[in-house]
Amino acid sequence: MSIWRVKPVSAFEADMKKSQLKRVLGKWSLTAIGIGAIIGGGIFVLTGTGAYNHAGPALALSFVIAGIACVFAALCYSEFASILPVEGSAYAYAYGTIGEIFAWIIGWGLILEYAMGSMTVAVSWSGYFNKMLKMFGIKLPEWLTTDPASYTGEGFSMNLPAFLIVILVISLLIKGTEKAASANNFIVILKVSAVIFVIIAGAFFINVDNWSPFIPDVQTIIVDEKPHQAYGLKGIISGAAAIFFAYVGFDAVSTQAGEAINPKKDVPFAIIVSLLVCTILYILVSLVLTGMISYQDFNPLGKYPEAIKAPVAYAFDIAGQAWAGYIITIAATVGLISVLMVMIMGQSRIFLGMSKDGLIPPVFSKVNPLSGTPKTNLMILGGFIATVAAFTPISKLAEMCSFGTLFAFTMVCVAVWILRIKQPGLERTFKVPALPVIAVCGIAINIYLMTQLSLDAQKFSMGWLGIGLLIYFLYGKRNSKLNNPQN
Ligand code: ALA
Repeated sequence: MSIWRVKPVSAFEADMKKSQLKRVLGKWSLTAIGIGAIIGGGIFVLTGTGAYNHAGPALALSFVIAGIACVFAALCYSEFASILPVEGSAYAYAYGTIGEIFAWIIGWGLILEYAMGSMTVAVSWSGYFNKMLKMFGIKLPEWLTTDPASYTGEGFSMNLPAFLIVILVISLLIKGTEKAASANNFIVILKVSAVIFVIIAGAFFINVDNWSPFIPDVQTIIVDEKPHQAYGLKGIISGAAAIFFAYVGFDAVSTQAGEAINPKKDVPFAIIVSLLVCTILYILVSLVLTGMISYQDFNPLGKYPEAIKAPVAYAFDIAGQAWAGYIITIAATVGLISVLMVMIMGQSRIFLGMSKDGLIPPVFSKVNPLSGTPKTNLMILGGFIATVAAFTPISKLAEMCSFGTLFAFTMVCVAVWILRIKQPGLERTFKVPALPVIAVCGIAINIYLMTQLSLDAQKFSMGWLGIGLLIYFLYGKRNSKLNNPQN
């Protein structure tokens, strides 16, 4: 049946030869792209929820578990990138192995990760930006910083900073990948320094009593006015799902394979190194944070009701070091720009891949010969992301982004295994060790984490995938290049 058609590896190779994208990214730029996408608001914001609502001081173990889930997926991504160094990421991998309909649904799911992720990041950037302006005594009016549905006044309102930051990032991406990568490298150095600063400065304020008991006994606490079971082993695992968003992004490296100078070697390297660096930093940040103040201080109904919203900055506040909060706010404001940059870049490259295959309209695969970037694609995408971010209340989309990512991870683990069985002789510059075990563990842990996300996020994401299937049958299936014998 045509929905199961598979794009042969030779067709990917032919596409690569024809590609107009410029190969400008070396191994460290690719690694910086990974770190650029991973470290964002997640680590500065979700740690409070992770500690109080889920794991207690054992939050560090939640970071270990989420990190392991990502490592399984990262290894599978790396093997694929070493075989098919093309821009479509998980979408392309599924197209080369499982079949078109799966590829489509993964590509559609990746919109949750990249495009919706970008909107969420743009809105949280606006929040940090306003906080930063306030530090300098500037306050923007509410109508300029709030989407119409959340606006409490009358008349017109929009989230202007969210809109403008997307436009700024798009104009940078259109200029060329090399320039965008240089800006990204700079931001990455800045934000990694900020995270290291948090770890070192925070270490001076650790009170080891706060780590005891490290894994608190299971307890029923009230979250959003409802009873909720926290702590214990289960809390550590649900904590891993809660903070998973902080890891989202390393797979974006694989969307840049079409622009890598030596993709077969450098993309696997960058995926693994960026993930390992961030995992270590995250574990240390969570240890420092839960050592600085008791996890119970993140109770929104307790002594510090605001602490859960900006836990890292609050921990320093409580330690009497409010100035550190300023550094964190500035680092997060600048740091989120690179998350946005990599996510939008990733989405545009996935659309590029899907468009080359005929599954979405050809306008998405036009590459500007001067800049070597998909200019029209970026402009359409940017206009859409900027408008949604400015006019809709989307601050809660982070979980949908996690769903899309976990879904893609699961599929990549499945696909790498299938390709090993179907085409064992293909040249692989990177091979997942003990593949069946890693793939099965990756599939199990990623599916499990998906079930731990909120029911609303699961329902919405399923609905999203359903709409995707409809569009596939109405457009993609018919226009697919594989449907057309001369292609
Ligand atoms: N991992 C990214 C963040 O935490 C998406 O903002």
